[in-house]
Amino acid sequence: MPNYPVEPFRIKTVEPIQLMDPAARQVAMQRAGHNLFALRAEEVFIDLLTDSGTGAMSQEQWAAIMRGDESYAGARSFFRLQEAMQQIFGFEHFVPTHQGRAAENILAALLVKPGMSIPSNMHFDTTEGNIRARGGHPVNLVIDEAFDPTNQHPFKGNMDIAKLRAFIQKTGAQNIPFGAITITNNAGGGQPVSLENIHQVSATYHEFGIPFYIDCCRYAENSYFIKLREPGYAQKSTLDIAREIFSLADGAWMSAKKDALVNMGGFLAVRDHSLFQRISNELILREGFVTYGGLSGRDLDAMAVGLWEGLDESYLAYRLGQTAYLAEGLHAVGVPTIEPAGGHAIYVDAGCLLPHIPHAEFPGQALCAALYLEGAVRGVEIGSVMFAAPDPKTGEMVYPRLELVRLAIPRRVYTQSHLDYVIESLGNVAKNAPALRGYRFKYAPELLRHFTCTFEPL
Ligand code: F0G
Repeated sequence: MPNYPVEPFRIKTVEPIQLMDPAARQVAMQRAGHNLFALRAEEVFIDLLTDSGTGAMSQEQWAAIMRGDESYAGARSFFRLQEAMQQIFGFEHFVPTHQGRAAENILAALLVKPGMSIPSNMHFDTTEGNIRARGGHPVNLVIDEAFDPTNQHPFKGNMDIAKLRAFIQKTGAQNIPFGAITITNNAGGGQPVSLENIHQVSATYHEFGIPFYIDCCRYAENSYFIKLREPGYAQKSTLDIAREIFSLADGAWMSAKKDALVNMGGFLAVRDHSLFQRISNELILREGFVTYGGLSGRDLDAMAVGLWEGLDESYLAYRLGQTAYLAEGLHAVGVPTIEPAGGHAIYVDAGCLLPHIPHAEFPGQALCAALYLEGAVRGVEIGSVMFAAPDPKTGEMVYPRLELVRLAIPRRVYTQSHLDYVIESLGNVAKNAPALRGYRFKYAPELLRHFTCTFEPL
């Protein structure tokens, strides 16, 4: 095999993109208040803002779209999705939701009471936001290796079982409505969790009578990492690995916009029948009837097909090959990243590249802005803009341990030459790193502020 990721598909539909000139990028950034979320898509050349909903659907998915059944209740599309759900995840009940955070909202609305805590390896921002919005405390208990960017631990998404046990004992199981784990660990570098660890997490939660939920939007990538890296799993299929993972949990939620290869969709799945009834009521109130959950019938069909395509091992080999290729190229031009490469994205260590910019002046934001101005490449800050928050007791600002810029790779969208262009652009930024300056907020809302805040350059 060559040491670059060959696409296991041909391109049948073409979406033109254009590189805007540097002066126009300056104007666009001013208008956007220096927040890349406020740019128009046409102002971006290579868009690595997210891998969420940005993938390319296959010919089979587009064919499935045509079969979509738009009946309000009992649509055929729902039952085709249910079949895939049962085959892969094996939960007794599920509802479709329009995306992952809708499932998080329902779960938090039903289970989280003010003052309660929800542990995980690391919660993603929307999960954190939904827990906080109900007065709860999201708690991150990932292993320490996750915070050491060059540590080569094969499963840096693992939860620290000793920390988890100590946390439950200190907090009391009655104050923990459910425990979670995120696979892969998006907020911590897209790093996988081992099956051994998921077994231990499940056993620990269950020992204390705490229901165990998996935030599983990148479960297929996680399953393939297990196949590649965990002793005893090389001969197992990703499907069998996925089934073993979900057999250990009481429920799961998924943003299907990732490993189910659709542009919109999600689900919340549970074993408990009475909880399912409460979920159904909440869903009907806010999202839609239980057989469509805020989606069109055609979306459900695209998801049913995409769930299987996301587990395909030739696709997963290419997918993880792309991130590894991007990481290798960036290292060669002096750009430090979290190692080893994650599944869906490369996390550039902005704190390491820009040591002269303190947390409070947002080194990740400085790097994102510079990369856009250099090459019209859009990444996203995963650092203090996203996660710094005042300590609830002392009011003192608590900063995340890592200041990162995520370059997320949409599925089946960009080719190797696109990745080469990103490597070249970021290499140019790195050469000029000491000259970059920080930013301060001009406007910032309280929750999920990175989406709509604006900045001023310092
Ligand atoms: N959980 C994880 C681990 C996620 O990465 C996301 C979304 C969600 C939940 C929420 O799902 O967007 O469908 O409501 N992550 C996207 C990202 C937005 O860019 O990483 P959603």
